[in-house]
Amino acid sequence: MRIPMIAGNWKMNLTIGAGLELVKSIHYSHRHPGEVDVVVAPPFTAIHSIAEAVKDSYISVAAQNIHWETSGAFTGEISPVFAKDAGAEYVIIGHSERRQYFAETNETVNKKTKAAFAHGLTPIVCVGETLAEREAGRVEEVINTQVTQGLTGLSATNFEKLIIAYEPVWAIGTGKTATGQQAEDVHTFIRELLVKLAGPEIAQKIRILYGGSVNAKNAKELLSFPNIDGALVGGASLKAPDFVEIIKGATA
Ligand code: PGA
Repeated sequence: MRIPMIAGNWKMNLTIGAGLELVKSIHYSHRHPGEVDVVVAPPFTAIHSIAEAVKDSYISVAAQNIHWETSGAFTGEISPVFAKDAGAEYVIIGHSERRQYFAETNETVNKKTKAAFAHGLTPIVCVGETLAEREAGRVEEVINTQVTQGLTGLSATNFEKLIIAYEPVWAIGTGKTATGQQAEDVHTFIRELLVKLAGPEIAQKIRILYGGSVNAKNAKELLSFPNIDGALVGGASLKAPDFVEIIKGATA
C-alpha cells in the first residue's frame, strides 16, 4: 500500500509571514489528515521558519531545488546540506520550470537526485512532456529518457524512498488538467519503467504524484486512479481551503 502524498509547490510566492499564516490555517482547518503525507515547498528563505512552525504538525517541508555539491564557490546556490539544515525533509528536483528557465537537464537532475539521497533528503523528481511532444506522439519517448537518465545509478534503497511527479508541461499553471485516464496511462508507463530499473517489488513502493492544474474540484477524481499516488499542487496550494480540500480528496 502506498500512502498518498499531497505536496504544495509554492514556487516563487509567499513571504515568511504569509507562509506561516498558510500552514497555520491548513493545520487548524484540518487537524486529522488521516493516512496521507502532506508537504509544503516554500522558497528557500522561508524554509527554516516554516519548518519550525510545522514541527509538531503532520506537515513536512520540501525545498524547491538544490545544487549537487555540498559547499564551495557556487554563488547563489543552495546545497542539500543547507536545505536539510534549514529543516527540509524533501526536495523537488527537475521541475519543468527549472528545466525550461534554468537549463536543467536529465544529467543535472540525476546529480541532484543522488546528492539529495546522500544528504538525507527525499527527492520528488519531476518529469513531463510539452504540448508539442504530446502532439507529436512522443510522450513515452520523452518520459522514458527523463526517467532513465534522471534516475540512473540509484541504489535499491534510494529507489524505495524515491517519489516521482508526472507533470505534463501543458497542464502546469494553464488550468488544463490531464484527464484522470491520460495521467493514469503515463503513470502506468512510468511504473513499468521503474520495474525495469528497480525490480517489480520496489517499483510497487514508489509513489508517483500527478501535477498540473490540480485543484479542489478535480483532485478526488485524479486520485481515484490506482497509479496516481498523490498530487504536486502549484496554484491551489497557496489557498488553505483549496489545499485542505485536495488533502481530503486523498484520504477519502
Ligand atoms: P499548478 O502547478 O498546479 O499551478 O499547475 C503545478 C506545479 O508546477 O507543480
